Amino acid sequence: MAEAAREAGSLPVANVQALADTCNNGADEQVPERYLAKEPGAEEVVAAGDSTCAIPVIDLDRLVDPRSSSSECAKLVSACHDWGFFQLINHGVPEQVIGNLKSDVIEFSKQPLEDKEECAQQPGGVEGYGQAFVVSEDQKLDWADMLYILVQPTESRDLRFWPTRPPSFRNSVDVYSSEAREVGYRLLEFMAKGVGAEPASLRGVFQGQALGMRVNYYPPCRQAADRVLGLSPHSDADGLTLLLQINDNVHGLQVKKDGKWFAVEAMDGAFIVNVGDALEIMSNGKFTSVEHRAVIHPTKERTSVALFFFPSSDMVVGPLPEFMKGDQVQYRSTSFHDFVKQYFAEKLDGRKHLDRLRQLWIWSQGAEGYQ
Ligand code: OGA
Ligand code: NI
Repeated sequence: MAEAAREAGSLPVANVQALADTCNNGADEQVPERYLAKEPGAEEVVAAGDSTCAIPVIDLDRLVDPRSSSSECAKLVSACHDWGFFQLINHGVPEQVIGNLKSDVIEFSKQPLEDKEECAQQPGGVEGYGQAFVVSEDQKLDWADMLYILVQPTESRDLRFWPTRPPSFRNSVDVYSSEAREVGYRLLEFMAKGVGAEPASLRGVFQGQALGMRVNYYPPCRQAADRVLGLSPHSDADGLTLLLQINDNVHGLQVKKDGKWFAVEAMDGAFIVNVGDALEIMSNGKFTSVEHRAVIHPTKERTSVALFFFPSSDMVVGPLPEFMKGDQVQYRSTSFHDFVKQYFAEKLDGRKHLDRLRQLWIWSQGAEGYQ
């Protein structure tokens, strides 16, 4: 069931937290060339300060309240279409649950490397402590360490990769993931409702399916913060992603819109939600899976926790009838399993894979027209 979420391993690479310690503290330590992934100033970045340039804010209370539901739903739909991203406030996950997760995740990153490596990724596997998306010996590397585990449903868990230190880690993840899962399901209902589809149509695709969690740890980079990238530009392959930023006041997420990068300042206690490739396809392009990346701070570390909502790996992902209602089909259908394989093979190369599915479809339509 959770196969697609488990596939496509990464080549082993050095631990970045340890590398950063050496580089940041050594007098003439250089950041290795393989991490220098961008030219400073090569692309325009819009600062987060200007509220007209910020990703939209959606209020779950307003979605639920019958008096405000339809206007908030309309706002949700345009956020998902125009930005593919929004911040979610009043989501109802108790502060205590989030607080416990935050402190355990921070505690985990402070463990000695040998302890963290008890959860190390296995060759060819994707779960565990290590890296994602390293597929070739000469690609640029991300300035981050990651811990990826399947968290829901309970049967999908492989506890070999679940930290035992701090001792409360497992329980915090268990509680957080079941609370946050419900928030994701509710959002899927409102997203469907907002475009006139049956609320259960989208929820039903994801309910009970695999939920992956990735803790991204981004160490500071004193010498070359403007040349390394914490996470290269990518779109997420899943349906929906809920991101929680752990450190207040250290930001790093940037979202691409109209050819520019928009810095996101995570609101305290909010979730940053984004549409993944699978949902762009299912919605026949009514929602957009947008390229995003993470940049690095020169002196401060940053941690985020992403929850990925996957459809069943044997599902044939294509535009859902509920979302078409007479529209032209925009995407070629493919099994989610094959989609994820391709996604990893093409590495984090922006939205290339999704664009290819779209083009294949357009091309096949065109080719038929010529016959
Ligand atoms: C991700 C992601 C962004 C961040 O994990 O897919 O985009 O700010 N993370 O950590
Ligand atoms: Ni992402």
